[in-house]
Formats: sequence, C-alpha cells, structure tokens
Amino acid sequence: MTADLFETIGDARPARETMAEGAVLLRGFARPVEAELVPALRVIIKQAPFRNLVTPGGHTMSVAMTNCGSVGWVSDRRGYRYDAIDPDSGQRWPAMPPVLGKLAADAANEAGFERFAPDACLINRYVPGAKLSLHQDKDELDFSAPIVSVSLGLPAVFLFGGLRRSDTPRRYRLEHGDVAVWGGPSRLFFHGIAPLADGEHGVLGRQRINLTFRKVR
Ligand code: SIN
Ligand code: FE2
Repeated sequence: MTADLFETIGDARPARETMAEGAVLLRGFARPVEAELVPALRVIIKQAPFRNLVTPGGHTMSVAMTNCGSVGWVSDRRGYRYDAIDPDSGQRWPAMPPVLGKLAADAANEAGFERFAPDACLINRYVPGAKLSLHQDKDELDFSAPIVSVSLGLPAVFLFGGLRRSDTPRRYRLEHGDVAVWGGPSRLFFHGIAPLADGEHGVLGRQRINLTFRKVR
C-alpha cells in the first residue's frame, strides 16, 4: 500500500478549481454545515413552497423556485424582478437563516470577495430532466458583489461560458456540497444547468436543490 494508491482511489476532484478570472469552484465547501442546511431549507419550503414560474414569453420553467431573504427573484408575464413579497402568499419571503448567510459569506471570502452580505437567496429545485438555459444574472442593482451558488442533492452539469451568449461554455460537474462563486470580471458570464440526469441522492432523494445568493440592493 503506497501513498500513491490512496491518492488515486481518493477524491480525484481538486478541492478548488478556477473556472475563469473571478470564478472559482469550491468542492465540498458546504459539507460541514449540511446537517443545519437541510432542516433550515425544509422550514423555508413549508412557508414558501416551490412553484414553476412563467417567463415573460409565456413558457413555464422546468426548474421550480422559491426564495428566502429580504427580496426574492420572481418571473411572470410582466418580466423578471426582485420583490419583497411572495406573490403566491402575499407575505414577505421567509428570512434568510444565519447558517445560510454565513455559508455564502464564507464561500465568497474564500473566493477573494470580502464582506459579501447577500439580501436574496433564490432556491432552485431540479427534478430529472429539468434544466436552466444559458443566462446572465443581471436583475441585481449591485454587480460589485459576486454570485454564490450552493449545490445539494443529485449531481448536475454546470455550464459556464463568457460575456457573450455565443461563448462556448465549459462543463463542470457540481455535486452535493459544492459551491461555485463568480464575480469581478466574470460576474456577468452566461451560465446554466444541463438537463438533470436521473438518480437517487442519499439525503435529498430524486432531486437537486441549488441555493443562489445575491446582493440585490
Ligand atoms: C442559477 O443560475 O440561478 C442556478 C444555477 C444552478 O442551479 O446551479
Ligand atoms: Fe443564474
């Protein structure tokens, strides 16, 4: 038994991978707080259940969404926007639990963005076959803050392109506990999620949950 053998059979994925200038993948970064994250999410989802939003073009998204934080991202026939009120309940979105805000700030810090204080957390739920087409996150007022994205549940293929829609995206496998951060020169890079492959995750079952933290205001 040599050390080499252990390196080969261990996690071959590097803990940290640079995707572009200002964009980094922190593998397993959320694992240490997993036991607090999952119950916190269940409370949020009970108060503000997942729903499949309609785009301004009239297409129902395959990804189901909800939010926590002082504002939430919504879409309907009138457009995309951030709103302090959940249109389904008429109430404010659930508050962002401290464990979530701290995880996002710690990940941003690790990626070189200090003092990230997100006011919005979009929660995306993918079932097998669900996908998110290439898009830019540009409904926020503050582009100086990064985007912090936490993956939970089934693995997904993250597409990360460039500033132009036509830039060929690179593909990264995102697994349970992985965190992607993009900001600075890559803040407005096009990104998306390829159709989710079927599977069963030990903690979350037949789905992928993604948390995307933003500084909106
Ligand atoms: C997003 O772009 O809002 C979500 C990305 C992801 O699900 O990883
Ligand atoms: Fe996005």
